Amino acid sequence: MTQDELKTRVGQAALAYVLPGSIVGVGTGSTVNKFIDALGTIAGQIKGAVSSSIASTQRLQALGIEVFDASEIDELAVYIDGADEIDHAGYMIKGGGAALTREKIVAALARQFVCIADASKRVQTLGGFALPVEVIPMAARRIAKQFAAMGGMATLRVKAGGPLVTDNGQHILDVTGLKILQPLAFEAEVNNWPGVVTVGVFAFQKASVCLLAADSGIQTLTFKPAS
Ligand code: A5P
Repeated sequence: MTQDELKTRVGQAALAYVLPGSIVGVGTGSTVNKFIDALGTIAGQIKGAVSSSIASTQRLQALGIEVFDASEIDELAVYIDGADEIDHAGYMIKGGGAALTREKIVAALARQFVCIADASKRVQTLGGFALPVEVIPMAARRIAKQFAAMGGMATLRVKAGGPLVTDNGQHILDVTGLKILQPLAFEAEVNNWPGVVTVGVFAFQKASVCLLAADSGIQTLTFKPAS
């Protein structure tokens, strides 16, 4: 089965976590796009969605799904999103699609984070995938030095010949060379650096469940809450 087919399957499988009549938290990325397409088939059975990016909002609306602003919502039953890496405890690296800040905000509203991924995303230790960090542009150089001091190499993400600009008007650093052995401590530390908007380690907002698609089928992994 191709990776695209695996994404389609896991996107469809996530429908099992959508409560009829509810507002669903929706992430961003190629796997979530498959979930959004599946959600379109039951659009009449849900109240709507809270989206984590302009791209997901446009896709949801094109399918007739009403999109609510996160600031209007007290709580969501479920947030469904992909990951760039997920470990044995449900800690993740996210942000390959540059939507990490809004993803973390919407995830924080949800009682349950359902991660949908193909089996290639499962890792022993986070850090093989270059860690996305959304930063205020004027702080980028100094933040890159702070990563260098911990053995990482930060590169400014570019698009169409200039720095990529996120939905929040900020920039992304992608950091290679890190082994993130203590995701909670790492997330807390980097989030404290001046100019960091969001670090792409999702430890405080870890997955509750991961649907992992492989040729053999979809495996459901459940994780203890972050402590
Ligand atoms: C978007 O910013 C990311 O957090 C995505 O969830 C992550 O990059 C996974 O994307 P794919 O499903 O496209 O691999």
